[in-house]
Amino acid sequence: MQANLRVSRYDPEAPEPSARMQDYQIEVPEHFTVLDALIQVREEEDPSLAMRCSCRASICGSCAMRVNGQARLACKTRLSAVAAEGEPVTIEPMGNQRVVKDLVVDLGLFWNKIRAVEPYLQPAGDEPEEEYIASDESMQNLITPMGCIMCGACVSDCTALEVDENFLGPAALAKAYRFVADPRDGASHERLQTLNEYGGVWDCTRCYMCVEVCPVGVAPMDRIMELRDSVMNEVGVTTPGARHVESFARSVARSGWLDETMLAVDSWGRFNIPKLLSQAPLGLRVLVRGKLPLPWPFHHKRAGAEFVGRIFKRWESRKQ
Ligand code: SF4
Ligand code: SF4
Ligand code: FES
Repeated sequence: MQANLRVSRYDPEAPEPSARMQDYQIEVPEHFTVLDALIQVREEEDPSLAMRCSCRASICGSCAMRVNGQARLACKTRLSAVAAEGEPVTIEPMGNQRVVKDLVVDLGLFWNKIRAVEPYLQPAGDEPEEEYIASDESMQNLITPMGCIMCGACVSDCTALEVDENFLGPAALAKAYRFVADPRDGASHERLQTLNEYGGVWDCTRCYMCVEVCPVGVAPMDRIMELRDSVMNEVGVTTPGARHVESFARSVARSGWLDETMLAVDSWGRFNIPKLLSQAPLGLRVLVRGKLPLPWPFHHKRAGAEFVGRIFKRWESRKQ
């Protein structure tokens, strides 16, 4: 088949370095992956093209890059799956990380965040004579996060990281979950306290991108939501993020729908006047557009609200 690759090029040693797109038209077999095609370009057309790869089997995690705007493993992505014959395929380096050359990014940010969550077991108590034993059942929920191949695709497409580099990001938080949920770890409480701070679990916007792009099904956002539950249960409801969750549930359970006004007031704290005043312009804009319902006690119940309330009650009783 005819492959039409539009590849991002960047040479830091050029007299005036700037990113540009370069087109390569090559003939490849139908079964070729994006990585196979890039290797063919490098071997037959342009040896200056820089990229990372190793296993070519979705194991080592080194070939993550953006294909048609979304982070993927190039060795797991068939060309025919992302473009019909002759259609251009855009190939760029991962996002949210500094480009070193062409498709190669500096993984320093990725690894610094992984290191920040102390990704090693910290058992409490006396050291056993032979080994730490954990039952099969207690390790079941660790299988998915332990499958992470450290490719960085989730970090590349994380929308929260895009606006705040301080956020730990999906890969590091999935790794943190792996140790918080490990029954042999003795530092879970301290870990959760750290994750409750700025840059931790509450900074995720639940955009779902990390779930969508992860090539091995780690589903980092789901792990982050589990960490949020653990933070609320073990550390307490001490942050705007945690109060937001409580207020959300409270208003839906009470009236069957969301009380947007109280959500903001509860999240920031009723007596946090400076913060609430700073939100006033936003509130006014929302009000003018008719999107701000009157707060409680004017927030009327929707028809069927009692059924919604019952679902919440049943859920609460199951948790106990
Ligand atoms: S769901 Fe959260 S962690 Fe995942 S990509 Fe979106 S903001 Fe980032
Ligand atoms: S969580 Fe998934 S996307 Fe993120 S680094 Fe691990 S394997 Fe890659
Ligand atoms: S080359 Fe190893 S995951 Fe793609």
